[in-house]
Amino acid sequence: MIDNLKNRGQWATRMGFMLACAGSAIGLGNIWKFPYIAGMNGGGLFVLIYLFCIFAVGIPIMICEFAVGRSTQSSPVEAFRKLTSKNSFWQIVGWMGILSGFVILSYYSVVAGWAMHYVFLSVKNFNGATNPEVISGFFGALYSNGWVNLFWHAIFMLLTISVILGGVKKGIERAARWLMPILFGMMLLLLIRSSFMSGFSQAVSFVFSPDASKLTAAGVLEALGHSFFTLSLGMGAMLTYGSYLSHKTDLVKSSIIISIMDTAVALIACLILFPVLFTYGMSPEAGPGLVFKSMPMVFSQLPGGTIFAVIFFLLLTLAALTSAISLMEVVTSFFIDTLGWKRKTATLLPGFLIFLFGIPSALSGGALSKFTMLGGKNFFDAMDYLSSNWFLPLGGLCIALFVGYRMDLSLVKKEFKENSIFAKLFTPWFYCVRYLAPLAVAIVFLYKIGLLKF
Ligand code: PFF
Repeated sequence: MIDNLKNRGQWATRMGFMLACAGSAIGLGNIWKFPYIAGMNGGGLFVLIYLFCIFAVGIPIMICEFAVGRSTQSSPVEAFRKLTSKNSFWQIVGWMGILSGFVILSYYSVVAGWAMHYVFLSVKNFNGATNPEVISGFFGALYSNGWVNLFWHAIFMLLTISVILGGVKKGIERAARWLMPILFGMMLLLLIRSSFMSGFSQAVSFVFSPDASKLTAAGVLEALGHSFFTLSLGMGAMLTYGSYLSHKTDLVKSSIIISIMDTAVALIACLILFPVLFTYGMSPEAGPGLVFKSMPMVFSQLPGGTIFAVIFFLLLTLAALTSAISLMEVVTSFFIDTLGWKRKTATLLPGFLIFLFGIPSALSGGALSKFTMLGGKNFFDAMDYLSSNWFLPLGGLCIALFVGYRMDLSLVKKEFKENSIFAKLFTPWFYCVRYLAPLAVAIVFLYKIGLLKF
């Protein structure tokens, strides 16, 4: 047992834990995805609903994950077994988490690869191109070039693996302590740059003033789905990070701070991107290509644009890396805890398998572009769709139901209240966990399978 604990590791400091969790939460979801879905859903009101989802569903479920992880000091599968029995049905939630980590990392690494490629394109100043067609053409060329995608996918997986090999303190925590402050610094710099642009006030009102006419039911559901993805919930990543935590930490306060940091970064990302778009008369509704197509175009016209483009894509890469680390750790900790493997084998083997599984995603815009599944989606899109629309919300639902109805109530109370300045909030929190969160996720599912119509 002691051997196992030694093998697992613990956070050295509370700050390290917080930064690692913030690193997991803050990622491509905040900088690449949130601005474009907010843009497509008309801004203001969507943002408001998103904030509601974060506070009413996201934070409560994050507390659940930390509570299950810390009380068992185990990775997901073992955690559910310890709290129930060895053959309990609940361990499926843990298995699903590992599968999600595996699938998400395989395509997440490909997008991170794009960000790395764009760092180099930015350094080269997009070969001096200024024509919008030519600049947005860089993305199409990259997307369809299998070899380049494979190359960056491999490099990014190697980076992720090298951090995980270092273990909890020397790998994950050290990376977070270095990378997160750099990330915050870069964001601040870009925000200052954007705030001097003429489109800044238009961007602020776009992000913060609600316009009900642009919002659809699908947008509301998207806000809820995205709150799981952005807070890294529903696959045991926070559960795993919680399992390296001592009993001194206030779980509730930590969850609130991490979620506020994550939300702040998503909003700041909008305040970096939108002023640039508005200043140059471009639409915020460009969709997934927003960051890769529109931004370089705008940077090319901006005084000092090259340096800001380099900073921006570095920021995207670092944010992706600290999230990828948590995805990988869920898989690695399973092999350490459940199969008793050494960290080295538990990292290298699954890391290599994830790389292999990511190959079809890396080739989705090129050699495999004709291969479709799930109603016309290419492999990359299908993996993204499956994990963020189904696996994570389903995992989140199960974790809420587990803590709300199955886990020993006195243990739940103890985890929530221990050293917490928010101990009084237990009842409203438990209400969210038992009723509100499951109901919200159930509505999303019923809508998606067509049983519910608005
Ligand atoms: N939260 C990350 C993002 O916003 O990019 C993505 C993510 C990381 C999802 C880790 C799930 C996870 F377990």
